Amino acid sequence: MSNQIKHRERGSGAPLVLVHGFPLDGRVFDDQLDALSARHRVIVPDLPGFGLSQPYDVAEMSMSWLAGQLHSYLQSINALPCVLGGLSMGGYVSMSFVKTFPADVMALLLIDSRAEADTDEGKQNRNRMIEAARARGMTAVVEMMFGKMLAQSTTHQRPQVAEKLRQIMRDQPVDTVCAAIGAMRDREDFTPLLASIRTPTLVMVGEYDVITPPEVAQRMRDGLPRSWIARVEGAGHISTMEQPERVNAAILKMLDEIK
Ligand code: MLT
Repeated sequence: MSNQIKHRERGSGAPLVLVHGFPLDGRVFDDQLDALSARHRVIVPDLPGFGLSQPYDVAEMSMSWLAGQLHSYLQSINALPCVLGGLSMGGYVSMSFVKTFPADVMALLLIDSRAEADTDEGKQNRNRMIEAARARGMTAVVEMMFGKMLAQSTTHQRPQVAEKLRQIMRDQPVDTVCAAIGAMRDREDFTPLLASIRTPTLVMVGEYDVITPPEVAQRMRDGLPRSWIARVEGAGHISTMEQPERVNAAILKMLDEIK
């Protein structure tokens, strides 16, 4: 196993690290990489075992393990402290990161994510997904998840975005995906952590996100002492691909405000 994280980057200046969700890789930030690099050193890693970061021994996977691997890697490329942004599962990793390494995070972006742990029913669904993935591979995971990921308008009006997302999902290896499902199932409840996060935080949520809906994002924002919320019109759960201009504008506005 090479156990080596790989990343793509553009631009110079303060590091802005964007962490992808599940079962995805850094391509969900293709539209952020260029647009935000005029003002930042934008760094888009693929988490251990995903995308370009293969092969990787993922037996120990948990949110805190992912945060630790990412932290060591960012240190090795001289990218700390950074602005840290995470989409969905990337948000769980980012919350774990800020819990352990608060001094290394200048600002936090939590995009289409949530603070709460899985419910019992959610945990059972995770177990079902692991079984289905083991039996039928990524086809089963795509079948179980794809319909919930995008706003209807994205699927109908921008089929190339839907096709790209489907391809990114298909490209992830089953072993990594099963390890990540287990890690999400067992993740801690970050709600008690929120009040202690002094880092300025932008919460973003797609208007039509059904996986982490706007009311869930609002609750998270309410628990964070220095926070903003931006509702991304016309987006579902993958707002960085669905409405990149709106997402980029919200990120740049927040970063300007905290300068
Ligand atoms: C993600 O987009 O990363 C996942 O849907 C998050 C989750 O299933 O909890």
